[in-house]
Amino acid sequence: MVMGLLDGKTALITGVANRWSIATGIARKFHEHGARLAFIYQGERVKDEVEKLAAELGGAKSYSCDVTSDEALAQLADCVRRDYGKLDALVHSIAFVNKEDLAGKVFKTSRAGFSLALDISSYSLIALVNALVDVLSDGASVMALTYLGSTAIIPNYNIAGISKAALESIVRYLAFDLGERGIRVNAISAGPISTASSRQVKDFKSLLGKVEAAAPLHRNVTTEDIGNTAVYLASDLSKAVTADVHFVDSGYHAMGMFPEPASS
Ligand SMILES: NC(=O)c1ccc[n+]([C@@H]2O[C@H](COP(=O)([O-])OP(=O)(O)OC[C@H]3O[C@@H](n4cnc5c(N)ncnc54)[C@H](O)[C@@H]3O)[C@@H](O)[C@H]2O)c1
Repeated sequence: MVMGLLDGKTALITGVANRWSIATGIARKFHEHGARLAFIYQGERVKDEVEKLAAELGGAKSYSCDVTSDEALAQLADCVRRDYGKLDALVHSIAFVNKEDLAGKVFKTSRAGFSLALDISSYSLIALVNALVDVLSDGASVMALTYLGSTAIIPNYNIAGISKAALESIVRYLAFDLGERGIRVNAISAGPISTASSRQVKDFKSLLGKVEAAAPLHRNVTTEDIGNTAVYLASDLSKAVTADVHFVDSGYHAMGMFPEPASS
């Protein structure tokens, strides 16, 4: 156990699918910093994995919840209220895009594929906050995971980037809605990390090499790096920070031109 920046705080973590998930890295760091945790999982496919992690991290409770279901979200709110009383942090680490929409031309995206991507990857933040707003304590911290593809063209990220643009805008509007209660809403823009979701993006692996070559820090980021920033955002250290998109990407987002690779 290191310094307990989150001692006495309760956090609901969404988006754990397996040990590579960004949400897993965040949950581990929250636990190290003393937070009491709760998880949701999307269906039976990932239930065992999430329950195993929850048991390891202080015997946290986990609830089945598909964020496309308003009924499931209402049930989640009841369970959290009953079992925890209040939440001091909410981590949104959820995205989904049909694989065929993660390659090729954006103008080929179907209406159904667009709706699905935006529903799960963007609207779900509104839906989660709406369901849990009474359980969130005054001064709570809400955070969502985003990516540079929201504002810059990342080939093949396509509709995922468009859904991240919506997500980042939602973060700002929710920050305004909830600011009067001292509740903060921010996004962490993570550099590429190999996970079940990111591997669906065509040529994803090439992004990792590009970041390492061009980013000021010349390395890729890890789920621990994201977890450390999430701890800061959930803690009182960031209590004047809201409506922000905070990059954790080795500085890659700031590059305007890429140096030639060093010749050997
Ligand atoms: N991996 C990266 O390179 C990267 C970079 C920047 C941002 N992100 C974002 O980080 C977040 C987490 O992704 P990840 O890379 O850890 O991948 P992941 O596949 O491990 O996590 C995605 C999670 O979304 C959940 N999910 C999908 N549909 C859901 C639904 N209907 N209801 C409830 N949960 C649902 C999945 O169960 C899974 O746990 C996503 O928002 C992703 O866009 C990832």
